[in-house]
Amino acid sequence: MTMSLDAPDETMLQQHFDSTIAHEHRVEPRDWMPDGYRKTMIRQIAQHAHSEIIGMQPEGNWITRAPSLRRKAVLLAKVQDEAGHGMYLYSAAETLGADRADLTDKLVHGQQKYSSIFNYPTLSYADVGVIGWLVDGAAICNQVPLCRSSYGPYGRAMIRICKEESFHQRQGYELLMTMMAGTDAQRAMVQGAVDRFWWPSLMMFGPPDDASVNTEQSMAWGIKRHTNDELRQRFVDMSVPQAEKLGVRLPDPELAWNDARQHYDFGSVDWDELSAVIKGNGPCNAQRVAHRKAAHDEGAWVRDAATAYAAKTSRRLEAKT
Ligand SMILES: [Fe+2]
Ligand SMILES: [Fe+2]
Repeated sequence: MTMSLDAPDETMLQQHFDSTIAHEHRVEPRDWMPDGYRKTMIRQIAQHAHSEIIGMQPEGNWITRAPSLRRKAVLLAKVQDEAGHGMYLYSAAETLGADRADLTDKLVHGQQKYSSIFNYPTLSYADVGVIGWLVDGAAICNQVPLCRSSYGPYGRAMIRICKEESFHQRQGYELLMTMMAGTDAQRAMVQGAVDRFWWPSLMMFGPPDDASVNTEQSMAWGIKRHTNDELRQRFVDMSVPQAEKLGVRLPDPELAWNDARQHYDFGSVDWDELSAVIKGNGPCNAQRVAHRKAAHDEGAWVRDAATAYAAKTSRRLEAKT
């Protein structure tokens, strides 16, 4: 077979990309990819990274008021894991040519989104448990299929992240089991937290399929494996028996097992609320972004010092060689 020394043309590159996707092989950073794929992937990974970083705030709020040394150690470790997830994901976005400083800039200026769930306040320590159980639980439903993402660095990052998210979910559930075995006041705190977080957790799967603009293309590219409504159903089916075991009531009178469908039916989500939160009008949007911006600004000297130190080290290395 003779090989052409000319640069491959766009049609050939596109064919190669299409066949990579069709064979469920992975697209790697050095590979040619369509601009739309690259942009969609950067948007998805950045949005995910921002969610991990902003997601540190609602629970971080309780670190100083944890009820015991053990709970404090657990919560510190969990919040630190989320920072780690954000770092992996910003690195994955960088493999596509994105610039981390630029992504942070877009986040603090409201040009890129993060998960709507983190715009709700955490009002009691039970919220820490409910976030672990429901929010990390919903994140797992969303993220396990992403371990098979067609983009290699993202899929590989998700495998490790999902292992840690499972642990987060268990620690949340264990905290709630402990509180449910406590006093009436503690049980009421858990129920209150479930009442506030149940519906926003269902919103984490995004708008319903008929209103989701990106789903079709993302599924064709192997970026997304299941629709929003499929994943939402999976989450409901998983959570109902867990709620029963815990002894809490999920705040939905329409929740009922449907024998014909072999799934739980559930009430309709308030999509107006989701769209208000996405547009920046949730209870804590302004506070979350302002806090992130302040932390970034206050960290400027650390970045400057690290950059100066790296430059000095490489100058010394050069001088030695
Ligand atoms: Fe995470
Ligand atoms: Fe988590």
